[in-house]
Amino acid sequence: MYYSDELIEDVRRRNDIVDVIGSYVSLKRAGSGYKGLCPFHNEKTPSFSVSPNRQTFKCFGCGKGGNVFTFVMEYDNMTFIEALQLLAERGGIELPKTEMTSAEKGAAAKKHIMLEIYKKAATMYFRKLRSEEGKHGYGYLKGRGLSDDTIVKFGLGYCPPSDSGLYRMLKDEGISEEMLKESALFNYSEAKGVTDRFWNRVMFPIMDVNSKVIAFGGRVMGDALPKYINSNETIIYDKGRNLYALYLAKRTRQNFFLLCEGYMDAISLYQAGFDNAVASLGTALTPNQARLIARYTKNVIITYDSDGAGRHAALRAIPILKKAGIVAKVLNMQPYKDPDEFIKALGREEYEKRIKDATPGIFFEADCIKEEYDTENPEELTKFHNRIASKMLEFEEELERTNYMKAVSKRYALDYEEFRKLVNNIALGVTKKEESREDTTVERVPKKEQNVDAAAFEREKLLLTWACEEKAYCDLLTSYLTPESFQEGVPRQVAELVFKKLEDGSEKLLPATLISSFSELSEQSLASDLFQSGIWENMSGDKTKQDKAFSEALSGCIKADRQRKLEEAIKKNDGAAMQKLLTVNKDKSKLESEILKKLNGLNA
Ligand code: GTP
Ligand code: MN
Repeated sequence: MYYSDELIEDVRRRNDIVDVIGSYVSLKRAGSGYKGLCPFHNEKTPSFSVSPNRQTFKCFGCGKGGNVFTFVMEYDNMTFIEALQLLAERGGIELPKTEMTSAEKGAAAKKHIMLEIYKKAATMYFRKLRSEEGKHGYGYLKGRGLSDDTIVKFGLGYCPPSDSGLYRMLKDEGISEEMLKESALFNYSEAKGVTDRFWNRVMFPIMDVNSKVIAFGGRVMGDALPKYINSNETIIYDKGRNLYALYLAKRTRQNFFLLCEGYMDAISLYQAGFDNAVASLGTALTPNQARLIARYTKNVIITYDSDGAGRHAALRAIPILKKAGIVAKVLNMQPYKDPDEFIKALGREEYEKRIKDATPGIFFEADCIKEEYDTENPEELTKFHNRIASKMLEFEEELERTNYMKAVSKRYALDYEEFRKLVNNIALGVTKKEESREDTTVERVPKKEQNVDAAAFEREKLLLTWACEEKAYCDLLTSYLTPESFQEGVPRQVAELVFKKLEDGSEKLLPATLISSFSELSEQSLASDLFQSGIWENMSGDKTKQDKAFSEALSGCIKADRQRKLEEAIKKNDGAAMQKLLTVNKDKSKLESEILKKLNGLNA
């Protein structure tokens, strides 16, 4: 990190977490904090909470949490520095121009080299397409109806059936073996040595929003399998955070994007004059991709394949887009399969008409729900009505809800008044809500590199949280323990910061301040968890209970600390240390009552 802690703290203070999160997520007051629907996973009941006192947020559904920097990093796909810059601007603070640390310089240099590698590869593939060797590839693309202009616009290329042409070229240009290995453009095997990953395919370079090549999709020129080989992720390529053709679509003058599935779909649409098409990269649409789109437009027309898989993918995409603030419609391409086929068969004007006739997301969802029921059967019909009535509750604004209720009752020939009553009854819990049949998968925050012991973590969390809140707890904590008594990793790092602050004794320590000391999301999340004590809420008011819990946690921590030191002493065969540790190793309940006694003294 290359800005001073004071500056980072200034920026954080100028950006109240409730204001910032409130501008992205609709928050409602709940007790001393605020609640809302989590923007990081799909949910129908709010489990996302924001605390103005602590200046932190936490989702009890998916586990994400942190301070205002964490939120912006998660929400806008930003690095810590980018979030800092955004919030500094928002808060009217000017950041000094500073030097990068050597680690940051190293990472930036590596990314730069990786971009060079991909640029050189794309250039080579592009040239090959025009060469004698590339005739086959060029013929294939022409055969699919692409013009020379389109081929150039998308930088399409061809990789010949050579063993290691690209590898040798890059090697000759002096690129290091380490970088080549990391580029994911080559296969390393004992039998064959190093070979190019892409072999005898037409190449679709994948570019980021700044038109820089970051990956490739390679297609066979025929019916062989696999149809596509796509690049693996690298330091420059995260497929969930990029969209094919976004660098073109971002310049469109249309006020919506066309969202399709395949590279060829986006290209055909572009060639037909639709310069606002983007495609996800061989995966289902991710929340990050939806937010990426939301930076440019709040209207999307989904134009996925007409088959069952495409419909299912559209159903999944609608709520993800909605969460990013995007209104989605679904385009019907029947009887054709995808935009590429449709345009070839019926042309631009017909597609234009289909855009105008696109089905609003809610109707598309309702139509799909209807297909699950045999509406000739009265019982099933009622279930269907309950399902769509429940869906109406997803619209929070009354006016919007009323409009949708009217439209839905018209579409499915329902009596409006009856339908309205049904919706109200479901809202009031009079009528049982039909459980949706779709799976609701929750993305848990991966706590991969962070290895912590759960029981110790609970104790440490309680101690740190309360010590920051109350002098007596703080005094006891510092008299019995040092930061080294906390488990290694984030807990110990946080403890070091807390102890330092507590010793300085200056101002009250805010968890949100501490979180800024970590620049990785996984660390921030863990650090933030250290200050989220559920027990805290349950106990405020009952001092005796709280004191008891504190002394339990403290004695537990002391014991674990002694145990650890004892093991070390035994390992080192340090007799004196062992002797000392064994003599003070009182049993836990004695320790607890000793702490409680001291607490009473301090409280008195
Ligand atoms: P064409 O069949 O040439 O028209 O390609 P398309 O771009 O229309 O692809 P399609 O609709 O079949 O698939 C959509 C996207 O899924 C593609 O653009 C690829 O990103 C991805 N995809 C398709 N087939 C494969 C495959 O065999 N392997 C991998 N890894 N990805 C694939
Ligand atoms: Mn296709």
